[in-house]
Amino acid sequence: MDLHDRVALVTGSSSGLGTALAHRLAARGAVPIVHGRDGGRTAAVAGDLGAASVVGDLAERAPRERVVAEALAAHGRIDLLVANAGIGWAGTLTAMPTETVDALVATNLTATMQLTRSVLPGMLERGTGGLCFVTSIAGRVGVAGESVYAATKSGVDAFAESLRLELRGTGIGVTVAVPGVVETPFFERRGAAYDRSSPRPLSADVVAARIVRAIERDAGEVWTPRWLRSAAVVRAVAPSAYSGLAARFGRPIRPGRATERTP
Ligand SMILES: NC(=O)c1ccc[n+]([C@@H]2O[C@H](COP(=O)([O-])OP(=O)(O)OC[C@H]3O[C@@H](n4cnc5c(N)ncnc54)[C@H](OP(=O)(O)O)[C@@H]3O)[C@@H](O)[C@H]2O)c1
Repeated sequence: MDLHDRVALVTGSSSGLGTALAHRLAARGAVPIVHGRDGGRTAAVAGDLGAASVVGDLAERAPRERVVAEALAAHGRIDLLVANAGIGWAGTLTAMPTETVDALVATNLTATMQLTRSVLPGMLERGTGGLCFVTSIAGRVGVAGESVYAATKSGVDAFAESLRLELRGTGIGVTVAVPGVVETPFFERRGAAYDRSSPRPLSADVVAARIVRAIERDAGEVWTPRWLRSAAVVRAVAPSAYSGLAARFGRPIRPGRATERTP
């Protein structure tokens, strides 16, 4: 995808990886639209970029539909959707409040599918466009203490894979980004610090640069770091060996703590 002058709605670009993605897209000639829930941070990122911004909670239908309408109105079209907004939660399933389960599914999975459904008709009409979904290594191999988060990311993976097949020949690219660990406020917000030794956290800018290159190349998926892919390969070809390794390294973490950001 040639990003020059392409209008790119980046959800969750008021913070972390989304902010880095919006900057990288702008550096490649795209016209980002910054999105977040926090009006102040969203405006600050948009101000730095000289970009349009939209504010709204994607977990709720009415504000989500308003976000899409305002984003479409900003430049008359959306050429690229980067579905990046997401939340996490860490702890055992039994410690997880029922509303937090709902919030993770609504934000990470339902909102992603509904947003895609809203922007796709315009892309199909123009015969060109791009969809990029930010998932996680947790969605490919499962992680103790992150069962619901992993399930939402796995769901996005299956959604993206199916859409890629459905959209063949339409001129619309589908890229799945599978990050390992990224240095962002994500862990602080979920209420539990990242406490594993591997994979090592990477800067949001490094991860964003790889994702944007993958969009430009119409790559089906991009793993950051690259070697992380080997975990999914081992799981696929040697499931018994994999489950032994996962039990050894993917130790359960502490019972969960609710975060101020998930109800
Ligand atoms: N950090 C990692 O190690 C890591 C690893 C793999 C995958 N990921 C994925 O990367 C994506 C970006 O996360 P991040 O690490 O950059 O975390 P972050 O710094 O916490 O950013 C999350 C972004 O999502 C937005 N958001 C959250 N809930 C929302 C909702 N209900 N409606 C609208 N926007 C919402 C936030 O908006 P406000 O701040 O304005 O509320 C923020 O802009 C997520 O999908 C995450 O699952 C992260």
